[in-house]
Amino acid sequence: MAATDTVTIDRERIAELTQRETDRLNELTKGSGEMFHRANRHLASGVASSYQVREPWPIYLSHGAGPKVWDVDGNEMYDFHNGFGSMVQGHAHPAIGHAVRERYEQGTHFAAPTEDAIVVGDELARRWGLPKWRYTNSGSESTMDAIRIARGFTGRDDILKIFGSYHGHHDTVMVSIGVEYDKIGPHEAPNSIAYGGGIPQSTVDHVFAVHFNDAESMEKRIEALEREGRKPACVIMEAAMMNLGVVLPEPGYLEAVRDITARHGIVLIFDEVKTGLCIAAGGATERFGVRPDMVTLAKALGGGLPSGAIGMTEELAHVVEDGTVYQVGTFNGNPLGMAATRANLSEVLTPDAYRHLDHLNDRLLGGCESVIERYNLSGYAVGVGSKGCVTFSPTKIIDYETFKYNQDAALAELAWLYNMNRGIFMTPGREEEWTLSVTHTDESVDAYVAVFDEMAKDLTS
Ligand SMILES: Cc1ncc(COP(=O)(O)O)c(C=O)c1O
Repeated sequence: MAATDTVTIDRERIAELTQRETDRLNELTKGSGEMFHRANRHLASGVASSYQVREPWPIYLSHGAGPKVWDVDGNEMYDFHNGFGSMVQGHAHPAIGHAVRERYEQGTHFAAPTEDAIVVGDELARRWGLPKWRYTNSGSESTMDAIRIARGFTGRDDILKIFGSYHGHHDTVMVSIGVEYDKIGPHEAPNSIAYGGGIPQSTVDHVFAVHFNDAESMEKRIEALEREGRKPACVIMEAAMMNLGVVLPEPGYLEAVRDITARHGIVLIFDEVKTGLCIAAGGATERFGVRPDMVTLAKALGGGLPSGAIGMTEELAHVVEDGTVYQVGTFNGNPLGMAATRANLSEVLTPDAYRHLDHLNDRLLGGCESVIERYNLSGYAVGVGSKGCVTFSPTKIIDYETFKYNQDAALAELAWLYNMNRGIFMTPGREEEWTLSVTHTDESVDAYVAVFDEMAKDLTS
């Protein structure tokens, strides 16, 4: 829909509704407020990770079952946050519970390999078409080790990433994310900027960024770096950006990136920490039909236990196998995590599960689109597999530049408050998308659409 057809939403109305909904949420979550005071004594900001921080207090949860979670005040909510997209199998899935209980009885950690690790490796190789695998315990560990393997393989230190993409919290990837629009820099060669303190400038200096959906500027940047004797070891990217809502690859983009990296001898890493297992059995690699040299997984892999993996070609695996690069970790392949992962892959995330997720997401996206049309809102619904969002923007978002230029943070905040106050638990980061689980039903996604409808009505009335 063209921007001119849409209603202009009164900013004062947004502010007024935001105040009303904030008061309502504070009233509904007083128990969380009390817990926050207790938590704040010895937990920094009262939370385990800064991504859980929220003013005036975070919402503390007590339990979850299937598609629902409950907070400490007893509020029952459909979970569309799903642990930043980790719980695509739903909460307390019996198959995973059974595997974990069984494994617990047999001992949970040896720092020695177990059979489940082999079965999981076989299945990941089948799903991704990459022959060699290693395990980690998180997405950050996966991207950190993948980059180290690429550096060890090529003997080069510099890396290329997509501007605005999040790949975890180790120094090398905490660059050029969450940047204000006026700090992005020129489109062809955007700035390299540390994300927060404590990141050495010498690390930032090894990281270059280009914009998503622009293969031409990627190749130009690579050629310019080559001329300076700074050819990157790898390109690390998400095949579909999942930290600006959802930004899908334009037709031909991933194929072009594959071709460019292959021609220049640069390792292509698809960070599938979010897309892997959530948008198809074989993640973005399967869904978009382009195979990288390496894949990083975590989040939904472990069925709720901390678990990560790196898939790679035979050639790349040589530098691990011959001891050139240390890919190590006490808890890598932890038996409890591997048992949960095996059950997750073999019993939960089956072909039927992906058919169900696609059905639900189509219904949800369609429902949101019809609300947008009915109220002439400026925005669109976009998603793939279990993931999606409503993007409040008059034009299509294709990269970080267009995202930041068009971002309507106030409306995204209001949508989050409406959801939280009406039984929809959403990710606290307002740039996040929803993740459905295999236990969600038509009824759960219709509940989401009904809340969106109510907000649209209130905004336009
Ligand atoms: C694409 C991507 N890669 C890596 C990570 C880091 O994963 P973790 O938080 O498990 O370290 C994230 C986390 O949100 C992510 O979205």
